[in-house]
Amino acid sequence: MRVAIGSDHGGYTLKEHIKAYLDGKGIAFQDFGSISEESVDYPDFALPVAEAVSRGEFDRGILICGTGIGIGISANKVHGIRAAQCHDTFSARMSREHNDANILTMGARVVGPGLAQDIVEVWLATGFAGGRHARRVDKIRAIEDKYRKS
Ligand code: RB5
Repeated sequence: MRVAIGSDHGGYTLKEHIKAYLDGKGIAFQDFGSISEESVDYPDFALPVAEAVSRGEFDRGILICGTGIGIGISANKVHGIRAAQCHDTFSARMSREHNDANILTMGARVVGPGLAQDIVEVWLATGFAGGRHARRVDKIRAIEDKYRKS
């Protein structure tokens, strides 16, 4: 399991917490920034993480901003990305089992570090259920292909 992780300034401190958690679990990750709480723009960090996951260089991505919204909207513009904003462990599990989400987004102004860590643990441990859910994810891909520009 290789994880790409990124945040904006609003998610920086929680990103550092999640990195320490991944380190403790021996889970390999690459940090795509940001590097401080200095104000930055979340699309600039969503894009490289989403592209790296889309290219298959990482199994999963984790993106954190203030709300988990802007960084997730940005990531979902990249072909092949299914970014899911999860602020509870049930949604985290469902986003993997039903949606095969390949990026988890969280808002550091919404969840505390303890819950965020639990969410990451569940999200990384849960597999895609396939079956009828695979048909639905294929239909998401068909929508994506329909609107692909290049
Ligand atoms: C930054 O102030 C904030 O807008 C950002 O972290 C995020 O919440 C946007 O969706």
